[in-house]
Amino acid sequence: MVNNTISQISPVMPTYSRFPVTLVKGKGSYVWDDQGKQYLDFTSGIATCNLGHVPDVVKEKLEEQLQNLWHCSNLYHIPNQEKLAELLTANSCGDQVFFCNSGAEANEAAIKLARRYANKVKDSASAEIVTFQQSFHGRTLATLTATGQEKIQHGFAPLMPGFSYLPFNNIEALPVLKTKKPAAVLLELVQGEGGVIPVNLEWVQALAQICQENDILLMVDEVQTGMGRTGTLFAYEQFGIEPDVISIAKGLGSGFPIGAMIAKEEAAKGFDQGSHGSTFGGNPLATAAGVATVQHLVESDVLKNVNEMAVYLDLQLESLKDKFPIIKNIRGLGLLKGLVVETNALEIVQKAISHRLLILTAGPNVLRILPPLTVTKDEIDEFTKALEKTFQSIEKGE
Ligand SMILES: Cc1ncc(COP(=O)(O)O)c(C=O)c1O
Repeated sequence: MVNNTISQISPVMPTYSRFPVTLVKGKGSYVWDDQGKQYLDFTSGIATCNLGHVPDVVKEKLEEQLQNLWHCSNLYHIPNQEKLAELLTANSCGDQVFFCNSGAEANEAAIKLARRYANKVKDSASAEIVTFQQSFHGRTLATLTATGQEKIQHGFAPLMPGFSYLPFNNIEALPVLKTKKPAAVLLELVQGEGGVIPVNLEWVQALAQICQENDILLMVDEVQTGMGRTGTLFAYEQFGIEPDVISIAKGLGSGFPIGAMIAKEEAAKGFDQGSHGSTFGGNPLATAAGVATVQHLVESDVLKNVNEMAVYLDLQLESLKDKFPIIKNIRGLGLLKGLVVETNALEIVQKAISHRLLILTAGPNVLRILPPLTVTKDEIDEFTKALEKTFQSIEKGE
């Protein structure tokens, strides 16, 4: 059908409510809009540009790969993919990697692996996946079903069968897993979208033990917490647990789209030839970005910087909390920080833009602060001043 009417509606579907800023350039911790205005970016593209914008180490590898081969099918060997899988398995408890293009796809792969492992390898009675309230695992039909938030699922019925939810960080709720014996549990170690809520150490260790004793796969969604964000390459390293499956994306390509699902040898038996696939997953360009990013994370002192700057950022946030009673609590891990505020967090984020600072929300009353892992003390000072001015404007009702 030919549509001859001149339409006023945007050709882009309105699934996002966008801020009135058009970003056209980025370098390090800064971005510029189409008017030439500079902003301090403490969103990092939502935990994606972990090495800052356009990091030279990744840019060089991408430019080199651009000269040679952009894409080839997974029907052929892809050296960058093999190298990236080696790097990820050498630096995690996992043994094999499946490559895809996003966080949702990494979780989708994890869910498929768990089901196929239960059905084909274990011949188990249950292929159920247990997740947690307030979690966020993505927007595909399976991952939004895994997401324990009604607002994400709203309007998408019928949801996928075979999912159930437990309260997060609640130790009394765990014993049900022993009778239910699901195929897997899937959790974030810091619930990012759900309000920057870290797992409680005792709880996550009890959960891991129940999983181990009852042959339940422990799957961690490190899409937001992975790639150094919390001060270790993967957040699970800080909790004394060893997951069977790890999903990652966001920071893996420093802004180039790539996701991955890493599994231990036993769990990986769930997939064999033909059981899963992706045209773009792990293509030469995406894995060039991944190799450069992971190599830099493990070989440079970026992780040391995360730990040092996280302490410094905490001090600055504490000083702001002392000045502004509107700030109720500070939480998070590494450079994934949440500020619980008594007012509408979105208003603060909007106001911060006028002070040339980009930050995020994580729910209605939590500010989410995600500087690049390369952030400096001077930049944190600049952030603190801009946020102070923002809170002053809010207090004055400006
Ligand atoms: C923990 C977690 N899992 C999954 C996703 C989905 O990732 P993507 O948007 O790349 O599909 C996100 C995105 O914010 C996330 O934070």
